[in-house]
Amino acid sequence: MKQAYRDRQDTIAILNTLLDAEQERYRATHPRSQQAWQQGKQHFLYGGPSHWMRRWAGGFPIYADEAIGAHIRDIDGRDYVDFCLGDTGGMCGHAPEAVTDAALRQLKRGATTMLPTEDSLWVGAELSRRFGPHYWTLTTSATDANRAAIRIARMITGRRKVLVFSGCYHGGVEEAHVEIREGRVGLRNMIHPNGIDHDSVSRVVEFNDLAALEAALSEDDVACVLTEPLMTNFGMIPVDPGFHRALRDLTRRAGAVLIIDETHTLSSGLGGCTRALGLEPDIFVAGKAIAGGIPAGIFGLSPDIAERLWAIVPHVNPRERQSAHLGFGGTLAGNALTLATMRAVLEKVLTPANYERMIATATQLANEARRLIEGHGLPWHVTQIGARAEIMFMPKPPRSGADVIAGRQPYLETLLHAFYMNEGILVTPFHTMLLMCPATSVQDAERHTSVLGRFIELLHESGAI
Ligand SMILES: Cc1ncc(COP(=O)(O)O)c(C=O)c1O
Repeated sequence: MKQAYRDRQDTIAILNTLLDAEQERYRATHPRSQQAWQQGKQHFLYGGPSHWMRRWAGGFPIYADEAIGAHIRDIDGRDYVDFCLGDTGGMCGHAPEAVTDAALRQLKRGATTMLPTEDSLWVGAELSRRFGPHYWTLTTSATDANRAAIRIARMITGRRKVLVFSGCYHGGVEEAHVEIREGRVGLRNMIHPNGIDHDSVSRVVEFNDLAALEAALSEDDVACVLTEPLMTNFGMIPVDPGFHRALRDLTRRAGAVLIIDETHTLSSGLGGCTRALGLEPDIFVAGKAIAGGIPAGIFGLSPDIAERLWAIVPHVNPRERQSAHLGFGGTLAGNALTLATMRAVLEKVLTPANYERMIATATQLANEARRLIEGHGLPWHVTQIGARAEIMFMPKPPRSGADVIAGRQPYLETLLHAFYMNEGILVTPFHTMLLMCPATSVQDAERHTSVLGRFIELLHESGAI
């Protein structure tokens, strides 16, 4: 293997020159998107309707004209293979027929009524069949589902602290905006404390560190541990064998509620990692793709946790005009449109056959990327879990957020992302994660292989590696 790549000053200078050239190429080939972006900045706080949209490495986002299956066409008429898939919100593929038909049917029959529809009965039963017997609630986002799960954990334990793993992301959840800084609870980059004393509401340890976890749970003040089954938001950080068994034992012993957030790891297979790894969450959370791109989140309470909640807030007797505030849920949560599309997703899109297809395509893409990396002797690696793969510029998979911080190559990553955009590939702008949908084809994966090959050639020719 070659000498490990490092962000030495001379290498950084080469990478910056290459990035300038890629951004110039991007501007030249995306005139309409560039003009739209200038216009957007006049009206939107951070240029686009969501601040996340400003993060694309070309310098501005492409403006989407049409998204169908695994492809997006932009307003400059360029075609992309979309491995970003709406940062997982589009994991069903764009405009899948079953979801579109269900949405249109339901829109014509009423989108939201504050009443359940019969679709909800089918969906509730199917969620329990996939993820284990739980009592479910819908929200409009995974963020909202996590917030509700935390609130319930605090209600039933009477405790305050939320324990998360350094490098996590669970949406706009105050308690989870933390990471380890100099051995203590620190705030994530750019996060304002927002009037919250994070020391008193959060505890944070490194992923896969069982000794630290045990110590952090020993003070009997942790209401819940909130975690993904493996970390997907700081590069992919695989989970050590035995970690989940120990996590479950430790949380039970400490009386802390275990919240498993499968918002991203739904891509692992039919029942997420919960089913694949035999996890036993007290509260199961998911969102993003679960309703085919219509905003939705879900959280499910195990029967034991539900009993404990009902002991505090019983089922309402409609004869009593009592307050019905639970402190979570929104007016549009569980609306008829969402239930109709969620049913279509579970019945017709995220099926065993489609998972098999998505995982096979991800395996092809990951193997080809590994072949290129090994062929060129590069100190990089590829992690693949289910339908999701990640290329990381470090020799082996990180075990924790600290490993990611120590090993990441931000200049190289930005350059790759800009190069991808110029070559018709979209990946999530935040790291190099590639997600497959049922419509992602063998040819789409091959396009990625050839673009990655050209990128490596560019690095060789420029002397960056
Ligand atoms: C694991 C996880 N949970 C929750 C969320 C929040 O999802 P949303 O922004 O749709 O509320 C995200 C978003 O990236 C996530 O990755």
